Amino acid sequence: MQQVSEVVNSWNEWDPLEEIVVGSADGANFEPTEPGNRPQIRNAPPGTPFPSGPKSAEAVDRANEELAGLVSLLESEGVRVRRPAPHDFSQPVRTPDFEAANQYCAVCPRDVMITIGNEIIEAPMSRRSRYFEYQPYRELVYEYWNADPRVVWTTAPKPSMADKMYRDGFWDWPLAERHERMHSFEFCVTQDEVVFDAADMSRFGRDIVVQESMTTNRAGITWLKRHLEPKGFRIRPVHFPLDFFPSHIDCTFVPLRPGLVLTNPDRPLREGEEKLFESNGWELVAAPEPTTGNNEMPEFCQSSKWLSMNVLSIGPNKVICEQQEKPLQELLYALDFEVFPIPFRNVFEYGGSLHCATWDVRRTGAGEDYFP
Ligand code: ARG
Repeated sequence: MQQVSEVVNSWNEWDPLEEIVVGSADGANFEPTEPGNRPQIRNAPPGTPFPSGPKSAEAVDRANEELAGLVSLLESEGVRVRRPAPHDFSQPVRTPDFEAANQYCAVCPRDVMITIGNEIIEAPMSRRSRYFEYQPYRELVYEYWNADPRVVWTTAPKPSMADKMYRDGFWDWPLAERHERMHSFEFCVTQDEVVFDAADMSRFGRDIVVQESMTTNRAGITWLKRHLEPKGFRIRPVHFPLDFFPSHIDCTFVPLRPGLVLTNPDRPLREGEEKLFESNGWELVAAPEPTTGNNEMPEFCQSSKWLSMNVLSIGPNKVICEQQEKPLQELLYALDFEVFPIPFRNVFEYGGSLHCATWDVRRTGAGEDYFP
């Protein structure tokens, strides 16, 4: 297995947390429409244009206030909290292959950065507006990399994001076609280039569970396999065929401690894929219905009501949970967790909740084999 670093060391989603990056809404912009994303205002008549350019100062302040609440809670639990560097997300992106009108935000480090043992991987990403999203984290990466020679830093190959990398028409497929194609797991990106977002992975020690999605294709999973398996990891691709717009695994399949995964009752695993967990004594527990329906989610939020289950574990028995999600909190209490409820709904329109808005750099513990 890999070397152990005292600076960068995180092998799973639940070990006692020591250091974490919490995102920031400073400078956030609306996500542009592009081949990898077609944002829509919730409950607006079809065709209503999605706003563009910088988010309002009020929306940024509201999100930042809740992010600051998360920072205080983490610090009061003895966790060292770091923040992204300022970045001008209103700048357009232009490469030899594409242009995007503006960038997005640094609210969700989870989407782009991942720690796997002593290694930091910057994901290639799947969307043009997020091509440079690693930049606000580079100062931190250099700090970690300079602090300990055992820290490994990898940037995955950047895809071209040229028009031909995307499947034209995906967003307009009628539901029937979507049903038909859902078993082939073909979404808006083709299979020609390596594409993955970091948030499609969930870390279980030696095993890395990866969801095939709109943001992670099979070439991306192959790259992860070839990169990580020689180091002793096992890549475990998973599929959730009832999620027609899958992106990022942390509202779908969320491990809470050894032997326990919180699952999404609307998005069962592809038949047979539960065996790996069950045969190793893992229990799959369904999350309760979220307290809002999809229609009551914030109007600019592109995620589903299942942000309810996007919890952040700060220890194998300690979970931070959105304040209004009482049914989930009840379940967690019944499962013997200490629960820390905090308000977080003003962050939802920036792409995620508590897990998405963080990137854990160091947790106590080592790379165990939970699937021997
Ligand atoms: N696609 C997910 C859902 O709508 C949201 C995932 C958010 N996760 C993240 N890391 N940004 O249920």
